[in-house]
Amino acid sequence: MKFFIWLWIFLPFSDLMEVKTNTPETTSMLGKDVLLDCHFINAGSVKLEDIAVKWTVDRRSQVKTIYLFDGKTEQYHKDRITLDLMLIKEGNASIHLQDVTLEDEGDYKCTILITPDVGSSTVLLKVAAQPSVALAPVNPHLSHGETKTFFCEASQFYPQDIEIIWLLKSHGEEVPLTTKICTGLPSLIDNGTFNVSSQISMIFTEEDAGSVYICEVNHESLPRPLRRNTTILFAIPEMIPRDTGFIVGVVSVILITLVVFLGVGIMYQKQFAKAPPLSDVILPDFVPANEAMNVICNINGFRPPHQHSVVPSKPKS
Ligand SMILES: *[C@@H]1O[C@H](CO)[C@@H](O)[C@H](O)[C@H]1NC(C)=O
Ligand SMILES: *[C@@H]1O[C@H](CO)[C@@H](O)[C@H](O)[C@H]1NC(C)=O
Ligand SMILES: *[C@@H]1O[C@H](CO)[C@@H](O)[C@H](O)[C@H]1NC(C)=O
Ligand SMILES: *[C@@H]1O[C@H](CO)[C@@H](O)[C@H](O)[C@H]1NC(C)=O
Repeated sequence: MKFFIWLWIFLPFSDLMEVKTNTPETTSMLGKDVLLDCHFINAGSVKLEDIAVKWTVDRRSQVKTIYLFDGKTEQYHKDRITLDLMLIKEGNASIHLQDVTLEDEGDYKCTILITPDVGSSTVLLKVAAQPSVALAPVNPHLSHGETKTFFCEASQFYPQDIEIIWLLKSHGEEVPLTTKICTGLPSLIDNGTFNVSSQISMIFTEEDAGSVYICEVNHESLPRPLRRNTTILFAIPEMIPRDTGFIVGVVSVILITLVVFLGVGIMYQKQFAKAPPLSDVILPDFVPANEAMNVICNINGFRPPHQHSVVPSKPKS
């Protein structure tokens, strides 16, 4: 059969062989398996030995043979590429590509040779990875007038094009938001996929209680947009505590602690700090009128971080 390959390379063939595909353009999810269809009509029921199949791939204008069957043996093929030889005689030369990677994207061409006829068909394979979407913080308890920023992160998607929009649902109505939004540019992460983050900042009041903020991500890998949401809640102080016993316990401990500290403080004052902590103000001997003067206060009982300098509003002369 080497002869076949020889002919393939050096002789012109008639283009009478009609080779078709059911998948001229196909998209596979990253890590999944894909069938690249290629079929032809084996009209004269040609024996398998007289049929040659070749698959090449054109990636960024670099053409590489990835599969070759010369009627007897299979060549080039890797573990990830399989072709069912039993089906060739029936006119099916489709290949299965397993565990698709981003590098597998390209134009795949299958060429069928049944001397003297040759024909080919092309399948464009695209690879996509679905984003994971996370919105944070989820259902935070806000206080009146609080500014809150919500982050929506779409990660590990491919290709790069993505759309993130924010919607507000209140009183059963959804409204797209256009202001106070900041969306970054997708950034490439190690394995060829992208991450992007969008954020929205708002000042919330009780009127917003119960409204829902929705982050919606649209990407070609998704059959429908992916959504995450967060509800605006307010931290309302509880008037009647449910667990009264616990509260009473906590309050008692605080009160006892306060009393003990106060007692110790008073005893300390009586025992050691006999002089008042502040001495009388020491005035300089001569003070020019309408000029700032330095007033020194001696402070006892603790070490000041630095000397205090006081500027009186109107010096006495
Ligand atoms: C070719 O065979 C594959 C199985 O390897 C099958 O999934 C596909 O549908 C077949 N194509 C045609 C056109 O019959
Ligand atoms: C991409 O997003 C994932 C999930 O949120 C995160 O773990 C990862 O650190 C991000 N990578 C980069 C480069 O931002
Ligand atoms: C891409 O990298 C992230 C971590 O950076 C990992 O979680 C994810 O599974 C990787 N995806 C693929 C398809 O390798
Ligand atoms: C918010 O998300 C939850 C869980 O994902 C979903 O059940 C709910 O319908 C969503 N709410 C809105 C208003 O989209």
